[in-house]
Amino acid sequence: MSAVRPVISLGGGRGDHMAGTFDMTTPVRIPKPAPVSKLDLIHRPRRNRKSDWARRLVRENVLTPDDLIWPIFLKDGDTRREEVDSMPGVERLSVEEAVREARRAVSLGIPAIALFPNTDPSLRDAEGREALREANLVCRACRAIKAKVPGLGLVTDVALDPYTSHGHDGLMRGEAIVNDETVAVLVDQALNQARAGADVIAPSDMMDGRVAAIRKGLDAEGFEEVQIMSYAAKYASAFYGPFRDAVGSGALLKGDKRTYQMDPANGDEALREVALDLAEGADMVMVKPGLPYLDIVRRVKERYGVPTFAYQVSGEYSMIAAAAERGWIDGDKAMMESLIAFKRAGADGILTYFAPRAAAALKAGL
Ligand code: PBG
Repeated sequence: MSAVRPVISLGGGRGDHMAGTFDMTTPVRIPKPAPVSKLDLIHRPRRNRKSDWARRLVRENVLTPDDLIWPIFLKDGDTRREEVDSMPGVERLSVEEAVREARRAVSLGIPAIALFPNTDPSLRDAEGREALREANLVCRACRAIKAKVPGLGLVTDVALDPYTSHGHDGLMRGEAIVNDETVAVLVDQALNQARAGADVIAPSDMMDGRVAAIRKGLDAEGFEEVQIMSYAAKYASAFYGPFRDAVGSGALLKGDKRTYQMDPANGDEALREVALDLAEGADMVMVKPGLPYLDIVRRVKERYGVPTFAYQVSGEYSMIAAAAERGWIDGDKAMMESLIAFKRAGADGILTYFAPRAAAALKAGL
């Protein structure tokens, strides 16, 4: 044993248990840092990132409240608000509360909201007839919001799933979701919404030919000004799970929606869907879900150059919100990063449950 005291102890004992493998008594030598040789670089991309002002100067994309559409869930019954368990921070609202939130949207600079009803199970049937009732939840909300908050854009969803007892977007004949028969009902649903004051009809059902049929129906009743935002490329996605809870169709859904919603493996097909909807008269197109499909957003925008929207859907929202709730990620930062990603991909606007929070954050200069 030498007399030199150990410089670093690995804890416990005197090192004798390590005998033969590591001599604890040897002083540890810290190597001298090698002399730094300057790199001969012409380009140093970091120069443009050196300070906040420099980063702002070269920033390519900006997010503003003008880019946001806020989807809102409606409910009937006595309670004014109730939490959606699978969507932390999102609530179902009574018509009265929806009017209040519509006012908030305007004060935050959000141009439009999108309405989705949680229809009482007693009002659902196999044909989704409630969708055509003049005083259904969505139509009552449209009328109330239009009367009190006229300057706000109102987007309504055309599809039968909030109204059917089987949770499908169309009519079921045996196991099949039938196309043409469904389209006829969707036209009536769109007209019902337009009469209630909807500004933008947003068919999310993915039936073939529905945009042309809805356009024709609207024009025949003098609704030439009502826009159509088609869910043109809507995928059969697992990320819709929390939404189906929110509107109460999740537990009801029989099977899946793969005979009408798109296969997540396909990209070219999305372009064909968009081309058809544009030819049929869509004013704006949408890709859905959002972040997992940014390649589609980019391709649609580049190919057609039309107003292109992306839907950051419920599951995408909940992943961020739930991780933030656990302290695993910074919720505000992840929210803003996800939203600017849509802009970078070429989206003109984003449907997102973060809309009020993001608009407030933008106002606060976050
Ligand atoms: C239904 C519809 C869905 C969404 C919007 N409209 C769900 C579905 O197709 O099952 C999903 C929105 C979201 O997940 O946030 N026509």
